[in-house]
Amino acid sequence: MTDPVPIARAKRRLWPWIGAAAGVLLAVAILGAVREHRMTVRLLETDPDQIPQHADLVRYADSLAKPAYAAHCASCHGADMKGDHAKGAPNLSDAIWLYDFGGVGDIERTILYGIRSGDPKARNVTDMPPLGRNMQLSAAEIRDAALFVINITRPQQDQAAVARGSKLFQTKGVCYDCHSSDAAGNPDYGAPAFTDTDWIYGGDYDTVYQSIYSGRHGVCPAWIDKLKPKVVRALAVYLHQVSQASKAQASAPKGAAVHD
Ligand code: HEC
Ligand code: HEC
Repeated sequence: MTDPVPIARAKRRLWPWIGAAAGVLLAVAILGAVREHRMTVRLLETDPDQIPQHADLVRYADSLAKPAYAAHCASCHGADMKGDHAKGAPNLSDAIWLYDFGGVGDIERTILYGIRSGDPKARNVTDMPPLGRNMQLSAAEIRDAALFVINITRPQQDQAAVARGSKLFQTKGVCYDCHSSDAAGNPDYGAPAFTDTDWIYGGDYDTVYQSIYSGRHGVCPAWIDKLKPKVVRALAVYLHQVSQASKAQASAPKGAAVHD
């Protein structure tokens, strides 16, 4: 038989300790919440393009952005951020941008309002027109234009077709109007460059032919109503960091990634 009196006494002695421990835990939780709140306010109040200069803000943004990217973006842009040709979702891990120049503010705007998303502030200046389907160009002309575009980064056999395609690009095809006459693209229209090997849909002949024949209408959803402002900004900071790191890597003497 145990004596109930000493046990009751021991319990009584334990209570103050339990109370103190709970107090410490509560204080830690409150301090954590205060710190979190302060970081959120700083993340939102700092000029977005200045954030990369604050290492602690970048770390905080990373911690918010990584799970949000996995939950909301990876399904289209890939867990490795390298995009998906079949979905027309571009590579977000490089320093090549369809829209603007890859500043945190530029990227944030794309994430907030999307691309051809239906949001009134979406990026939506123009589409890739279906030049075959709307009979502006013949099948032979589309072949020439496709070979010209591919030839810029991957020399083609049929140079006569490439020359015809080049002429078409600057005249009847009106390609220059959106992709610019040096084929370097136009970041106001989201018209991609053909001077790099980063393709949205793919750089093989059949895919390029399809892009010109049927046109394209890539859509990135608007996130303004689905994600908190701090998460959108954190994603923009995170994508900016990743693209800057890849730029540094690409300009290093070796290891420039080339992919179709
Ligand atoms: C349903 C598929 C889909 C999802 C989900 C999606 N995107 Fe996109 N995103 C696209 C497509 C398609 C484009 C390219 C649109 C075009 O062709 O212009 C794009 C383009 C972009 C661009 C522009 C890239 C550039 O080069 O300028 C950014 C930035 C971007 N997405 C970020 C995100 C982020 C961040 C998320 C998650 C919060 C996300 N996207 C979720 C499909 C998606
Ligand atoms: C009215 C503007 C406009 C004109 C004219 C135009 N394009 Fe485009 N093009 C675009 C846009 C915008 C995109 C990106 C579309 C998207 O992702 O939804 C694009 C995409 C493409 C793609 C897909 C590239 C990739 O990375 O997968 C190819 C190829 C292409 N255009 C070739 C041409 C050629 C060749 C011509 C002329 C014969 C032409 N375009 C004329 C606006 C235009």
